Amino acid sequence: MLQTDNIESLRERVAAWRAAGARIGFVPTMGNLHAGHLKLIEVARGQCERVVASIFVNPLQFGPNEDFTRYPRTPGADCAALEHAGVDLVFMPSVETMYPRPLAQLTRVSVPQLGDMLEGAHRPGHFDGVSTVVARLFNLVQADVAVFGEKDWQQLAIIQRMVDDLGWPIGIVGVPTVREADGLAMSSRNGYLSAAERAVAPRLARTLNEMAGLLRAGEHDYAALERATCAVLAEDGFRADYVSIRRPDLHAPERGDTQLIILAAAWLGSTRLIDNLPISLGPVSLE
Ligand code: PAF
Repeated sequence: MLQTDNIESLRERVAAWRAAGARIGFVPTMGNLHAGHLKLIEVARGQCERVVASIFVNPLQFGPNEDFTRYPRTPGADCAALEHAGVDLVFMPSVETMYPRPLAQLTRVSVPQLGDMLEGAHRPGHFDGVSTVVARLFNLVQADVAVFGEKDWQQLAIIQRMVDDLGWPIGIVGVPTVREADGLAMSSRNGYLSAAERAVAPRLARTLNEMAGLLRAGEHDYAALERATCAVLAEDGFRADYVSIRRPDLHAPERGDTQLIILAAAWLGSTRLIDNLPISLGPVSLE
């Protein structure tokens, strides 16, 4: 596996692969890789002859009081895992390489509305940081396909919208959330949990599953269900930022919708967890 922090070598290598007829898959990450990331690599490998991954903890997507400085950085273990997973090249740029001018002067990409709700409402500027870094990475890597986890459902929707709006010739692929055996969605931030919090954390996914059961049973007072779910989470020791039932495109649902998604963000101590659960309320097929 090739490793570089240099834009020219990245471009030369990808151009050579492309000239040889290879399709290029791209998996952007912030490192501290877990099985969820490795699933993204597997999907990229299934669709492309060459796979590029990036590791970059993007300062632009962290708020002033968020965990940028303590975000786990494990480049040695990450590179070993990427090599084992069959990645062809890992791009690990410095902040100066990614952002050659002061951040205040930087051109930014912003996806309005989709980027302002839910996570965006609780983390102002977060999605501008995500879309800006992903836009720059897409332009540097020039991949045919980029693969993202559905755990960050809103991020995936925003990136798809950005690519549609800007007309970029790159396919965006979403991959279902990978979970621990007890249901907790895999996340680099799970490592912040104390042992006691880790024991409680799967209750977030469990509570969303219970909520889905009520929706399947015909509950249609979404606002009441969201409030009740926040109360259940509070009893378990969570402090919910939001629990929200939406259409998969994140618009507000209407009665009769059969495809919904429940999205949630909740604090457990000083760790913020997010999760979501897509659900189908369609009629059960007897076939
Ligand atoms: O999902 C992530 O890890 C990050 O938001 C991403 C897409 C790598 C951008 O920094």
